[in-house]
Amino acid sequence: MTTARLIALDQILFVLVAAAWAATAGIALTGLRQPAAAGRRTLLIAAASCAAAIVMTALRVAVTAGLAGAGWWFVAEKVTLALPLVVVPALVSAAVSLPRLLRGTATGSTGGSTAGSARVVAFPLLVTAYGAVAGIACGVVISYPVTSGGAATVLALFAAASAVTWRLLGPARSPRHAWQAAGTCVLALALALTIGGGWPSGHLHTGHDTGGRGVSVDLLRGPAPASAGGPAGARERIRRFTLTAQPATVRLPSGAGAEAWSFNGQVPGPVLRVRQGDLVEVVLRNRLPVQGGSGQETTGQPNPGQPNTGQGVTIHWHGYDVPAAEDGVPGVTQDAVWPGQTHVYRFRAEDAGTYWYHSHQNSSVAVPRGLFGLLVVDPATPVPESEDHVLALHTFGSRPTLSVDGAAPSDLLTRLTLPPGARTRLRVVNTDTQPVVLGLSGAPYRIAAVDGGDVPGATDLDGARLHLAAGGRYDLTFTVPSGPVLLTAGDRPTLLVNGPATPPPAAGPVVDITRYGTPAALPARFDRETTWVLDKTLAVSGGLPRLAQTVNGKAWPNIPTPVVRQGETVRIRVVNRGTDTHPMHPHGHHVRILSRNGVPATGLPMDTFDVAPGEVWEVALVADNPGVWMSHCHDLAHAAQGMEFHLAYEGVSTPYDMTNGNHPA
Ligand code: C2O
Ligand code: CU
Repeated sequence: MTTARLIALDQILFVLVAAAWAATAGIALTGLRQPAAAGRRTLLIAAASCAAAIVMTALRVAVTAGLAGAGWWFVAEKVTLALPLVVVPALVSAAVSLPRLLRGTATGSTGGSTAGSARVVAFPLLVTAYGAVAGIACGVVISYPVTSGGAATVLALFAAASAVTWRLLGPARSPRHAWQAAGTCVLALALALTIGGGWPSGHLHTGHDTGGRGVSVDLLRGPAPASAGGPAGARERIRRFTLTAQPATVRLPSGAGAEAWSFNGQVPGPVLRVRQGDLVEVVLRNRLPVQGGSGQETTGQPNPGQPNTGQGVTIHWHGYDVPAAEDGVPGVTQDAVWPGQTHVYRFRAEDAGTYWYHSHQNSSVAVPRGLFGLLVVDPATPVPESEDHVLALHTFGSRPTLSVDGAAPSDLLTRLTLPPGARTRLRVVNTDTQPVVLGLSGAPYRIAAVDGGDVPGATDLDGARLHLAAGGRYDLTFTVPSGPVLLTAGDRPTLLVNGPATPPPAAGPVVDITRYGTPAALPARFDRETTWVLDKTLAVSGGLPRLAQTVNGKAWPNIPTPVVRQGETVRIRVVNRGTDTHPMHPHGHHVRILSRNGVPATGLPMDTFDVAPGEVWEVALVADNPGVWMSHCHDLAHAAQGMEFHLAYEGVSTPYDMTNGNHPA
């Protein structure tokens, strides 16, 4: 059974186990209080329920043992806390309560007084039920690593409930005792929370824990153009673009429509196509409406004295490893650009390939609403394909769409005519927050590039399908056959080349991208290691405890920042303990995939890699781009629910923080 299945089964089981023990205890208590004849029947049901609960508990132990095979991260809190809390009282129940229940079914009496038998028979059953419920609490409150605060909270609740029950099951007492018991219980909980310090770790109110020392990220800029004092005499080509954030309406061919935020009135924004070596200069202007205002461009300079209103914007160059100051993350590398303001980005287009750009202010809202576009860097020596098209997949509302070469998106089948025999490259960009399964049928094809980088030794695929992570890119190449070619996205026909006939959609197996291409020489020595355990846990997020998307048990901004030193090779292990897929996206770097679930990978460099539930990925990051970088899940809703943190270089600091309305997710 896969790890993901075991995780799902475990979640079902721990509810069933708790329900079974609670039911057993309830039925037993009822039976003990009934007159002999009726009591006998009830106790029989209780005994059967007890036996079932024992079996289910054993099953939980077995599932945990299975999960342990995938790694300690998946079971730490179960082995140290959740299981002992249910297994130990379950053994007592099996040894003490069950035989007495069975005796009761024969005689109608478990022996002894009613109160005495309640304590002997029902108490172990109730405590087992509490242990099972505490196990559920563990699953919600504790992730990996197990924290003393979380453990203390669970243990205190368990102990308090058991103590109160012991008193309540005893001989009748004055109501004062009940109040004392309840008081003790509340005190114990308060104590546990105090000892555990709740969940937040105190620092990081502004979103960083790298301190204020070191070179400011602000100084790590892209090159100035030669005309502005850059390298004298450099014969560089400067490509200038202006991107104006402004409202727009998307009208889809099916008739559906959506209110959007756009760059330059088009959604997606303009395709920025430059050549390797160019100096790219992009002026961002925000003309989104000010709340209650007209959106008129004002002086254009940030005014820290004024509250920032309306929708701020930035531009992040997704997958493009620009200098840190050009990375476009509000609160980390700049302040959000508010309506009326402008900001200039400048970077050298050093790497060829397919990339995209998007706003990073309130990105979980802004990107789905349309503040994105594609960036293509043509190699200095041209690609061999004469036909070269960029495809943006994006969902507006609930309508999946395709935009070809920056044209208006279509939620119906898009048609393209290409000359038979032409070498063709389709650059497919997933701008959604969910992964998509692609299929290309009608011609054998290759994945020529992944996340912008060429794939060495790309082999022909025929009818195979591909899993493309949210934010990821594949360049697909093929020779146009005499017949039609069909591209499907999420099993939906989306692009038809040379119709009208339609080939059957690709239905082959899904390619394991981590094993595609020729294996590269991979680093074997690492200067540093770090582990990111992804989960959905109760954590403080947005100032309140809530079920959050967590990394090592904490949510933004309480996730400690991994710090690296320039030049180091870092091994990052990413473990997904949860039930959601997480497309992890460290900014400023491509990572080489070393292995997935222990199976060695070919080492393709990626900037967005999809860690499915139960998976363990190992990737290598070479710290060659100093900065304070954002690192997050590109299911942007998950980022907004806490799954974002930093990667910082020693000696680099940032003057920006989460004040001034900066809100990266
Ligand atoms: Cu496209 Cu921080 O992401
Ligand atoms: Cu996620």
